[in-house]
Amino acid sequence: MNRKSIVVSYISENPSLISEPIKLARLIISETDGEYSLKELIKEIKETVSELLSDDGDKDGYNTVIISHKTIRTKVDNEFDGNPSAAARAMGLPERTVRRWYNQPNKKTKDVRGYVVTYAQNDTPVHLGFYKSLLKYCKQHNYELIVYKGKYRNPTSIIESKKEDVSWDDKVKPYLLDSRRSLNSKIGIYPAMTNPTAVRPLSGFDVHTGDKSGIFPHPKYQLKTIATPSKSMPKILTTTGAITVPNYSKSKAGEKAKIHHIIGAVVVEIVDEKRFHMRQLSADKDGSFFDIAGGAVAKYSPSGITGNHGLETLVLGDLHHPFIDKNALKASMDQIERFKPKNLFLHDVLDCWAVNHHSRSDRFLNTAKLNHGVMDIEKEVDGSVDLIATLAASMKGRVHIVPSNHDDALDRWLHDEKLDNLGVNSAYFHYLSYNKHLSARPVITGFSFIDAYQFSAREKLDAKYDKSITSRVSFIKRDTPVMIKDVDFSMHGDQGSSGARGSALGLSKIGVKSVIGHSHSCQVIDGCYQVGVNALIPLGYAKGANSWTFTNCFQYSNGKRTLITSIDGKYYL
Ligand SMILES: [Fe+2]
Repeated sequence: MNRKSIVVSYISENPSLISEPIKLARLIISETDGEYSLKELIKEIKETVSELLSDDGDKDGYNTVIISHKTIRTKVDNEFDGNPSAAARAMGLPERTVRRWYNQPNKKTKDVRGYVVTYAQNDTPVHLGFYKSLLKYCKQHNYELIVYKGKYRNPTSIIESKKEDVSWDDKVKPYLLDSRRSLNSKIGIYPAMTNPTAVRPLSGFDVHTGDKSGIFPHPKYQLKTIATPSKSMPKILTTTGAITVPNYSKSKAGEKAKIHHIIGAVVVEIVDEKRFHMRQLSADKDGSFFDIAGGAVAKYSPSGITGNHGLETLVLGDLHHPFIDKNALKASMDQIERFKPKNLFLHDVLDCWAVNHHSRSDRFLNTAKLNHGVMDIEKEVDGSVDLIATLAASMKGRVHIVPSNHDDALDRWLHDEKLDNLGVNSAYFHYLSYNKHLSARPVITGFSFIDAYQFSAREKLDAKYDKSITSRVSFIKRDTPVMIKDVDFSMHGDQGSSGARGSALGLSKIGVKSVIGHSHSCQVIDGCYQVGVNALIPLGYAKGANSWTFTNCFQYSNGKRTLITSIDGKYYL
């Protein structure tokens, strides 16, 4: 057998080594007792691969070699970040050839509309119910299932700690991957590099993905946004949840990981080369889960798919009237009308820009506000009440106004403003102050007073709108939990525990699941989910790099949550 035939035969058996001619040549040498020289073999491999890639059918006896378009595309995606030029250079092949193979029309994506990404731990059984539900889901929507190999060695087991080989449940073998894969130019999946017991699995990856969003397969949910230069979309880093059941050591780290182990996945729908929609799929004990694929809430379970489910709860990203982003609100209105939530939660309904303490001493801004007729805080409150009524009128469920720091700015104004500086707001100021004085009630730790925004908004709402709307609007009092399916929706996120400043990290430790607003950057830390905004990005006071997103939070009827981010008013494919 001549050298070319040998090379062809080895390429046929080891197509994954076509980009590593040295490795392939060494393999040939080792298995042919050093019959050939390394240099000659490398030359032969490079030429042969080039010829093979150029051929569309049988030619010169190479018909036994199978290097399919799919192999090339997978290789370019996985190892060269979807860049055919880089792949061609690394493989020593003509760029045009690799590009042609990579871009074969109608073959690269077929009908794949999205990708479902999850994590499988070695030597651990899959959650059968979730596995079955996931297959039904992927088939129904033409999503490709990708399962990343996760490795974990149980240090408290003598048998496992000495075991050399690892393997994965046979059920997920057709879907396994452990190399980087690009989904479009703005999002990629990265191999499972972090120990499954890691408390913060995304820690240290902020710059790892360049300007792309990144999926890091891991059995625990964590999601965060990373600020990018102000005119570009922030990038999102997320983990995935797992398709395998919890299997951890009997140790502190193992026990903690078991508590946060999520049977779940993330789905990424590809809109175009730059845009995508991403959602969490969190399974119940039986492996079933809900999702909005195709624009309808359906339940995917081992026994089948059922539709016509509504939402239990919808939490909108902070509103900040009058600075509403029209597209973000359009997406939110569509969600309300389409999914008919039983509960709607609103954060920072009012921006309180007219009298906000942050700009009280800004002479130029205040003069401009005055000259343009936007210093009237009562008008601003009126507008926010109209917004609440509009949202309430578009649904049948309850609307809850979450006490928030920007709404509270109205109270701060009553406390701090100088009486000779009231201008157009004088009458409203005195009216609110009068009612605040009257509301004083002794309590065990001092006195309680009305919340100025809640008092005024309630009064205005009741005066202007029909009871069929107003009776469904509630104003939540501070420190009064509103629990729905074991999740507390009452906190804005500005106040933490024991008087500390609030944060998702702090509130993730209070032992109660929550959905909060406030930071305008969506994230998930343990049981705490944080929404983004429905306001303009960025608002006037936010300078520099931006991590804000148009993100709402859904809660399905089984209590599971997902973050939904809209782009140009769209949020699903
Ligand atoms: Fe806010």
